Amino acid sequence: MHPKHLPLLCCPDTRESLALEPLVTLENGTVYAGHLRSESGRSYPIVRGVPRFVERQDYSASFGWEWSRWPRVQFESHNVGRPMAGHTTRMWERITGMTDDDVRGKTFVDFGCGPGRFLDVVRRKGGIAVGIDLSDAVDAARANFADDPDVLIVQADLLRPPFREGAFDGGFSIGVLHHTPDPQQGVSALARTVRPGGWVACCVYPKGDFYDFPSVARFRKIHHALSRWFEYLPALLYSYFAAYVLAPAFRFLKNAGLRRAIQYVERHWLVALWLKDPQWRVLDTFDAITPQIATTHTEEEVAEWLITAGCESVQRTPWCPTSATSLKGPVHVIDVLPMAPASGAARVSIRVAA
Ligand SMILES: C[S@@+](CC[C@H](N)C(=O)[O-])C[C@H]1O[C@@H](n2cnc3c(N)ncnc32)[C@H](O)[C@@H]1O
Repeated sequence: MHPKHLPLLCCPDTRESLALEPLVTLENGTVYAGHLRSESGRSYPIVRGVPRFVERQDYSASFGWEWSRWPRVQFESHNVGRPMAGHTTRMWERITGMTDDDVRGKTFVDFGCGPGRFLDVVRRKGGIAVGIDLSDAVDAARANFADDPDVLIVQADLLRPPFREGAFDGGFSIGVLHHTPDPQQGVSALARTVRPGGWVACCVYPKGDFYDFPSVARFRKIHHALSRWFEYLPALLYSYFAAYVLAPAFRFLKNAGLRRAIQYVERHWLVALWLKDPQWRVLDTFDAITPQIATTHTEEEVAEWLITAGCESVQRTPWCPTSATSLKGPVHVIDVLPMAPASGAARVSIRVAA
């Protein structure tokens, strides 16, 4: 971590400020090893450049494994000239609804950053990027941004985030909260870290979609039963088989007129996911069948979480029904009438933090 990020952090238990005690500082000024200490005596180690507020990955361990195996597959720089080029940026823009001007020079937090593909989008748009993740994915994220002092990665539970209230200009959580025991608390925690008037966006699995298929539920059960003996090997082998054999075969058969039959098989029996790039198919199949917690939600639930968390102007975004963006309240909307009404200029609404 770079010492300039210290004011963003606080003790997740007591909310006290933390003092930084560096042991090893790199040439670019980032602290590679050291401690963060609170006045009441709590101490959190900085290990390999990452402040660690938890000792275990808990239910997120599969993600630690996943992201150490595929740390850059979904990064734009890895996809130049490949079939999924532009996907990660488009996804972030459609889910958050933010423009480049909303990002430039501002500080954003990503709740459940994984290896940091969306932190990378924020950085490329000129923002300062802070990521929190419970799993060892933080080591992949740190490696992805090692030389960048405008990125801070912390290993912590997003349900008890080590961030000061209102520390960020905006925050988002994409594909994460449904993997926690309490998504609503996750939204509240996210909103608390954003200043009034700042952006809060989240996206979770929608009900009735792929992640709700009986086949996916069954494969998760099989993975959890087998993982006691074989860890991630069966899930990994199946993901390669599904990505390179099943998904292309199913696509061929669907185009050959067997769409309904294949859809039935996909829904009830065999997990197969079509994406243009086979590397993405392997990753997303593995990602679907290995998590310990995976719930699905409705548009109404997401809107209610945001409103309960004190957000205003909640809007569904075009990515999926359970993707929404909002502004952290209180926000005043001021209607400004044009100076000369006869000019025909439209009424303009300006949002300002109360
Ligand atoms: C499917 S991945 C999504 C990663 C990233 N948002 C992306 O789309 O590339 C879900 C991530 O949420 C993290 N996660 C799950 N529960 C968490 C928690 N309680 N606190 C912080 N991170 C958590 C996992 O470790 C994992 O990296």
